[in-house]
Amino acid sequence: MGSPRLDEQMILNDITNKVLPAPLLRVVRLIGREASNAGIDVYLVGGIVRDMLLGRKNLDLDIVVEGNALGFGHELKSVFGGTLVEHKRFGTASLFISRPGSAGRIDIAAARREKYEKPAALPAVEFAQLKDDLYRRDFTINAMAVKIEPGGLGALIDMFGGRDDLKKGFIRALHDRSFIDDPTRIFRAVRFEQRFGFKIELRTGYLIRDAASRGMVRLTEAQRIREELILICREEKPEKAVLRMRDLHELVFIHKDLSFSGTLGRMFAVSRSLVKWYGVFIKSPAGIEVWIINFLIMIDSLGVKETREVTDKFVFSNDDRNKILSFKENRDNVRRHLERDGKMLPSEVCGVLRPLSDEVILSIMARSRPGVLRERCRKYLRSYRDIKLKVTGDDLIKLGLPRGPRYREILKKALSAKLDGKLPGKADELRYLEKNVTQNTP
Ligand code: CTP
Repeated sequence: MGSPRLDEQMILNDITNKVLPAPLLRVVRLIGREASNAGIDVYLVGGIVRDMLLGRKNLDLDIVVEGNALGFGHELKSVFGGTLVEHKRFGTASLFISRPGSAGRIDIAAARREKYEKPAALPAVEFAQLKDDLYRRDFTINAMAVKIEPGGLGALIDMFGGRDDLKKGFIRALHDRSFIDDPTRIFRAVRFEQRFGFKIELRTGYLIRDAASRGMVRLTEAQRIREELILICREEKPEKAVLRMRDLHELVFIHKDLSFSGTLGRMFAVSRSLVKWYGVFIKSPAGIEVWIINFLIMIDSLGVKETREVTDKFVFSNDDRNKILSFKENRDNVRRHLERDGKMLPSEVCGVLRPLSDEVILSIMARSRPGVLRERCRKYLRSYRDIKLKVTGDDLIKLGLPRGPRYREILKKALSAKLDGKLPGKADELRYLEKNVTQNTP
C-alpha cells in the first residue's frame, strides 16, 4: 500500500523557519523525535498550520496523535517539564511549558478512530483517522495538518481545500451539519472572517443563517457561547466582528435589546489608545482583562437590569460579573462627581475611584471627552493610588490607643490628609496620629 495521496505536497520548513521562533521550532523537532521513538505519527493541526501559511505568529501548538494522547502527553512532559493537565473524559491533555520565546502550551489530542476499520494497510488506516479528525473541524482553513518528523515539519496535509480558501480568503464550513453540530461556530466564523479580512463563503453563510433561525444557539451550553464572546472581545479590533454580528442578526443571542450604534467604533478606538497608555505608564496590559473593556462596549446599549440578565445567562465568573456590573452601576455616579469643574482634592478622587477595578475606570474614561474626568482618572491611576502612609497600626499601639475600629478610621483620615499634601514626612504623620488619638480619647 503506497502512502496516502496528499492534495498538496508542500514542505513547510521554509515557512516554518520564518514564522516559528527558533525555540518553538526546537520544541517541534523534539516532539518529532519523541513521536518517532514512540513509533507513532504526530501532526501539527488547526490554527497554527493556518497561521504558518499566513505568516502570522502563533505560539500555541495543537497536535494530534495517532495513538495514546495522554501517554504521549506524559512523554512530552518528561522532555519539557511544565504542567500537564489531563482531560481524561476526552482523552486529551494540555502541557503548559514556560520557556522564554517557546510554546505557551501544547494541546495533545488523539485522532479519533472511525467507527469501523477498513481492511487496509496501516498507513491508509492511519490517514483515515487523521482525515476523520480533520473533518470534524470548523472551517477548511482550520482543517489542515502537517506531519511532525524528527527533523522538522513534513508535508502539508490539506484534504478539504484549506490552502485554496486561505489564498482566496474564504471561511468555508466542511460540511452542511457543521453549525448544527456546533453552533459556537456561528460566532467563530465571524471572528476569523473579520480577523483575516476574509469573506464567509456563500453556502456557509446560508448554513449559518439556517442554524441561527432554527434556534441552535439557544440549545448550546451558555458557557461555550460566553467563551466565544470573550474571544471576540480579545480580537485586536472587535468592532469589526460586532458589526458583522449585527448584520448577521447574531447580537440578539446575547440579548434581545442589544444594538450597535455608530459611536461604538469610536469607543473601541479610544479604549485601545487608553489601554496602550495604561501599558506604557501604569503596568502591563496583561494585568487587566482587556476583553472586559471591550465587552462593556459591546453591551453598551444595555441597562443594569439587562446586563444582569446577560451575566446570569452566560454564567460569567463572579470576578468578571462584578466588574461588568460595577461599571453599569457606578458609571453615572462617577461621572457626576469627576466631571465637576473646579478644584477637587486627591482624597476626593480616591474616594470615588478606589472601589473600582482598572477595567471599569478605563471604560469610564473611554466614554468621556478629554477633560477633567479623564485627567482625574489618569492622576489616580498614575500616582494617587500608590501613595501610602509611612506610619502603621503599630504607631497607634505605641500611642496607647485601645484596639478597635478607630484604628482604621484614624489611618484612613491620615491617608486622606497625606493625599492632599498635608503630611509630607513621617514626622508629620506621627504628629497627626498623636493629635487624633488625644483629641478623641475621652
Ligand atoms: N475547532 C473546531 N470547532 C470549534 C473549536 C475549535 O473545529 N468549535 C478546531 C479548529 O480546527 C481549530 C482548533 O480546533 O483550529 C483549535 O481551536 P482554537 O484554539 O479555538 O482555534 P484556533 O484556530 O487556534 O484559533 P485562534 O487563532 O483564535 O487561537
